[in-house]
Amino acid sequence: MTAALDALVAATAAALDDRSLADDRARAEAIAPFMRALLDADEPVPPDAYEPLDGAAIGNLLYVDPDGRFHVLAVVFPEGTSSGVHHHGCWGVIGYLQGSDEETRYRSLADEGSSARLEEASRHVWSKGDVTFLLPPDDGWHRVRSAGPGHGVSVHVLCRTPADHPHRFWDRRTEAVHPYPFIEVAPDRWRSEVMWDG
Ligand SMILES: [Fe+2]
Repeated sequence: MTAALDALVAATAAALDDRSLADDRARAEAIAPFMRALLDADEPVPPDAYEPLDGAAIGNLLYVDPDGRFHVLAVVFPEGTSSGVHHHGCWGVIGYLQGSDEETRYRSLADEGSSARLEEASRHVWSKGDVTFLLPPDDGWHRVRSAGPGHGVSVHVLCRTPADHPHRFWDRRTEAVHPYPFIEVAPDRWRSEVMWDG
């Protein structure tokens, strides 16, 4: 843990405890200044959190709330790699730390759980210092492509634990939606894997 990460974790726990914050957006906005401060810190996250795994994308786990309400990942996408189109079923706060990510957001025209019709809603290139939110159900579908230079590294504060984070993958060819759970492929290193039969 770094001091900036400690502060982000404390702010997230405080936002979740604060009954005066009405909804996920209000809580995300309360967390965001601490994410911005982390992105600006001399040592935002530990040095090994910037590392991909075997040259591929990975989420390096930095923290899990003891009550299972949220976790913090440093997500590393080697330059040129993409997440595919996927859906987060609960809130998140994302801060861009290194490189850049082209993020496409999708609007759901229909979502039956195991299939969905989506259309592109927006496209942005984010770089160091930018903070965005995932606020489903309306704003949970997106795709991220690492646009370089170098590995794209972003810090994600996401609802629930990595194993419980609701995550689905959209096959744009068939419009089928598959489970896309986070799997711990090495200690504290998590990768989303499409369950094609799910
Ligand atoms: Fe995502």
